[in-house]
This record gives sequence, structure tokens and C-alpha cells, in this order.
Amino acid sequence: MNPAAETRTVQARRAVLQMPEYHPPLAGRDALRLDFNENTFAPSPKVMEQIAAITSEELTKYPEREPVERVVAAHFGLEPNQILLTNGVDEAIHLIAVAFLEEGDEALVWTPSFFMYDVSIALMTSGGLKKVQSDETLQFPFERFLAGINERTKLIIVASPNNPTGAVVERQKLLHIAEAAPLAVLMVDEAYYHFHGETTLMDVPQVPNLLVTRTFSKAYGLANLRVGMVAGDARLIGFLRKVSSPYNVNGVALACLPAALADEAYVQWYVEQIRIGRARMMAGLDELQVPYFPSEANFVLMRIGAKHAELVTAMRAQGVLLRDRSADPGCDGYVRITIGVEAQVTEGLRALGVSLKQIDWQPHVPAQDEAAMIAKGREYE
Ligand SMILES: Cc1ncc(COP(=O)(O)O)c(C=O)c1O
Repeated sequence: MNPAAETRTVQARRAVLQMPEYHPPLAGRDALRLDFNENTFAPSPKVMEQIAAITSEELTKYPEREPVERVVAAHFGLEPNQILLTNGVDEAIHLIAVAFLEEGDEALVWTPSFFMYDVSIALMTSGGLKKVQSDETLQFPFERFLAGINERTKLIIVASPNNPTGAVVERQKLLHIAEAAPLAVLMVDEAYYHFHGETTLMDVPQVPNLLVTRTFSKAYGLANLRVGMVAGDARLIGFLRKVSSPYNVNGVALACLPAALADEAYVQWYVEQIRIGRARMMAGLDELQVPYFPSEANFVLMRIGAKHAELVTAMRAQGVLLRDRSADPGCDGYVRITIGVEAQVTEGLRALGVSLKQIDWQPHVPAQDEAAMIAKGREYE
């Protein structure tokens, strides 16, 4: 095509041309899925009963979200106008960015964290995405984060527990941030809430600029149905409702959600499996001498070093999928493993033992010890 003709073709907004893209490696996942932090087992059997009861006629109707929002609000002790159901938390992030950000605004995020924040923020503001990076501890940089707030800050997003690290941010610190930025929306992403237990959901009625997101993709095992929620002040939720499609959550998800929420015993069982499995995984990594970041989520971030890609390939050959996080800021050499139910953790650890041997992985010797070893070596010279 000649350049003159090219200028006459339809072009997307500049922000769309410039925004980053998220392409998770979804192909070829017919293996043990320890790569995406999903529930690796199943949702409650009550959910499957709901799916079996859906009639073909029901599939012809547009879905009605409000009755289920009333059920969800009651479950969490909130008013229905304080809740919006969304097509996963991914859509919640998108709606929040669309509703609150415009050119010239800034949005503050902690990095490394979930990449969809970058995508939705960059769609709305060119150059408005401000990232505060963890130091090598990968913990939340609270003081530096607070210092990043200014009069242009309109949106702040913090995931706790965070992905990909599993690090958490104490409730008091989150409330402090909300107070420090009264003209900004603070979105606390509690996608992995169940595996930790601390929440800011009950602060919603008192904190007018707080939005809390929860997904049903993780502990509840409904990732394929695409359903999440935002809780917050009725005014803020009203703005989000205004920009969302009335049919954003499909009827199968809406039919299943009340059953999933009501079966608390099932969720408790699954969460317990993860907590026990996580402790086993961390103990197993200690035994294998693999350093890792202590996690409060349903995954553990391991520090493999230069052989990170080789490990992922070797594990795939063993039938176990991992997620290489090396491209994340400050995560070079890090690989993430999802915690599943008991037998899956056993299999993950077995495959890790075999794969580390196959790639001839050696534990990294920390710098201090390195210096001590060199000094010791000199003694024998
Ligand atoms: C921190 C965080 N938030 C949100 C999501 C997306 O959740 P959903 O499946 O509800 O879109 C993920 C998915 O991995 C996540 O890690």
C-alpha cells in the first residue's frame, strides 16, 4: 500500500495504538494447570446442578443482573446499590478506568502486579500510568507509594494479595492511602482474598472513595463463566453501572453465582486445600533449596535464575504448566507455580524435583556467602 493511501484508512485512537497488549499463553493447556492461579479442581457440585437445570428457553433471554446483585449484596452485608456484578474483575478494571480517568489524569499502581491495570489505564490516559516499583524484597513500597500521590492522581490500584508475588498490604495502610487521596478512587483488588483472609470490604460504607473488587474465578472455580464484582459507595457504583452494558454478565453465570456463594462449606474446603498445599509447596521448595517469595495467595513465586525458561519447558514435558514471570519488572528469573489440591501439589513437587535435576539447576549462592566462600578458598591457596 502506498503511504498516501495508508493515511486514508481508518485509524484507532492514539491511546489504542499505543496501549500495551495482554496475550496470556492460553494455547495447549491440556496438562496440570499450575500456570494461571485458577481453581485447579472444580466449583461446588451445587453449581453443576444449576447448570444442568438451565432450560434451552432460558438461553434465549437477555440476562437479568439485578436480582442476583441483591443476593450478592445480602451475602456481603451491603446494599444492592453498593454492588455491581461484572464480566470478571477484568471488566471491573476496564469500567473503573473508563468511568474515572481522562487525559491529563494520573493512575498510580504498584509494580510488579496484574498487567490488566496497565492495559485499561493506558487506554484512557496517555502517559498517565505511574508505577511504583517494589525493591528487591518485592514487598509493598508504602512510603514511596504514598509519595507518588499528587493532585492529578485520580485512580489508585492495589492488589492484596498481589499477583505475581503473593505479597499483602495491611488494611490500615490501604485506609491510609484512601484518606491521603480523597479525590482519587482507590481500587483494592481482592481477587485472592480467600487465601489470606484480610479484607477492606466492610470499610466500604465508611470510605467514600474505596472500591473493592472480588473475583469468582479463583476460590469459587468459575473462571470460565467470567464473573466478578465491585463493591463501593453507591455514588461510585452508580457511575460504573452507567458505563457498563446491562447484559455484561451472562445468564449461566448469574444462575450459578447464588449457589456458589451459598455453598460455604465447599469454598472452605477448597481454601483449606490451598492453605495446606501452599505450606507443603514452600516446605518442598526449602528442601529443593529453591528460593521463593512467602505467599498469601494460591501460588508461589520461585527464584530460579538464568534457567527459568528451561525449567518451564522441562516441567511442560513432565505434564505440569508453570508461568514464567521473568518479563515482569524486578522479576527476572522468577517462575510462578499455582497451588492446587493435595494430589496436584504432590505432582507439582515431584515434577519440580525431576525437572530441576534434568536442567542441572544449582541453588544460587547469596552474595555474602559467595564472598565468604571466596575468602575461604583463599585460605587454602
Ligand atoms: C490480581 C488479579 N486481579 C484480577 C484478575 C482477573 O480476574 P477475573 O478472572 O475475575 O477477570 C486476576 C487474574 O488472574 C488477578 O490476578
